[in-house]
Amino acid sequence: MKKSIKDFDLNNKRVIIRCDLNVPIKDGKILDDNRIIQSLQTIKWAISNNAKVIILSHLGRIKSEADKKNNTLLPVAIRLSNLLGFEVKFVNETRGSVLENAVKNMKPKDVILVENTRFEDYPFKKESSNDENLARYWASLGDIFINDAFGTCHRAHASNVGIAKFLPSAVGFLVEKELMMLDCVVNPKRPFVVILGGAKMNDKIKVIDNLIEKSDYALLAGGIANTFLTAKGYDLKASLIDEESINHAKELIKKYPSKIILPVDGYASTKYEDNLKVNYYLLDNVDDNMMVLDIGPKSVDIFSKYIDSCNTVFMNGPVGVSEFSNFEYGTKSIFEVLKKSKKIVVIGGGDSAAAAIRFGYKDSFTHISTGGGASLEYVEGKTLPAIDAIENK
Ligand code: 3PG
Repeated sequence: MKKSIKDFDLNNKRVIIRCDLNVPIKDGKILDDNRIIQSLQTIKWAISNNAKVIILSHLGRIKSEADKKNNTLLPVAIRLSNLLGFEVKFVNETRGSVLENAVKNMKPKDVILVENTRFEDYPFKKESSNDENLARYWASLGDIFINDAFGTCHRAHASNVGIAKFLPSAVGFLVEKELMMLDCVVNPKRPFVVILGGAKMNDKIKVIDNLIEKSDYALLAGGIANTFLTAKGYDLKASLIDEESINHAKELIKKYPSKIILPVDGYASTKYEDNLKVNYYLLDNVDDNMMVLDIGPKSVDIFSKYIDSCNTVFMNGPVGVSEFSNFEYGTKSIFEVLKKSKKIVVIGGGDSAAAAIRFGYKDSFTHISTGGGASLEYVEGKTLPAIDAIENK
């Protein structure tokens, strides 16, 4: 068991909290502040325990000077100040005298947000390569290190893994909650159903293999289902299909003949666009040039029977192109079925989490993870390096 923030006396200590404040931002506007909100509990705990709070986070990926301009954490500092009700001091550098003086002048209960840790990735990849000098430098700014950035725990970077080597360390409340909730899926109460959606199969092949094996039933949708249907001989015309994975899908169908459940109907359009005419099809009868972009009501009915028969559900990926209003039907319907089912329902992070929150299902499930890749790797049974780096109790 990992040390918890509660195991330390934080009074008057400089507490470095690694958060995952990697939120979608467009033209300086935060589109989804869920990760900021989920980070508040640990930050508030440190403040109420009289700590000097120094927050580190990454935002996006930095490969050029232009990326730096577009990925400053300033809008996050403003949002965080609003949520906390007082000013979070934003330091617009990742190292140097401004940062060091700001830390030196801190009083208990002050909060500093340091600029995007991945600014250290250009021109030299220091953060992402877990550069030891950088980790040691950041550690020199604090007395205690708290990892609360669950979404980043599958990465071994200087600001999460490296820094933990040089300071007493613990996990925060968000990481604790994620591990506890995701354990419902790691050791599921059976029958266990997984719902796997999303566009590309190739990207997720290992996760798909692993989750199908682990589950009692795997309900497939999106580009993944299209590839399996093609493997079974269906012609889905212009739909997204991962040609390279068709043989693999054939093997899985052979290996798990009664486990893999595929949609039977769906909504389609001629292009990957939201405002064109939408046609309904049974999937064995799709017209030429049509692209299936969502599941239909017969598929929702089939999926809901499996959901009703199980005890635990893990959903990763929306079942249609849920960001298009014409193709949100399937994802919304499945969320509604899951909500009414009252089963243990865990939604993996990334697109499915964003859709659940956007459609108003924020509080309807057992857990919605803040981690995309991190939640998948944890559910797969992999060790997360940034959890591993934290001291045991
Ligand atoms: C995420 O959004 O999944 C995390 O913040 C990690 O981001 P990354 O994939 O850019 O490392």
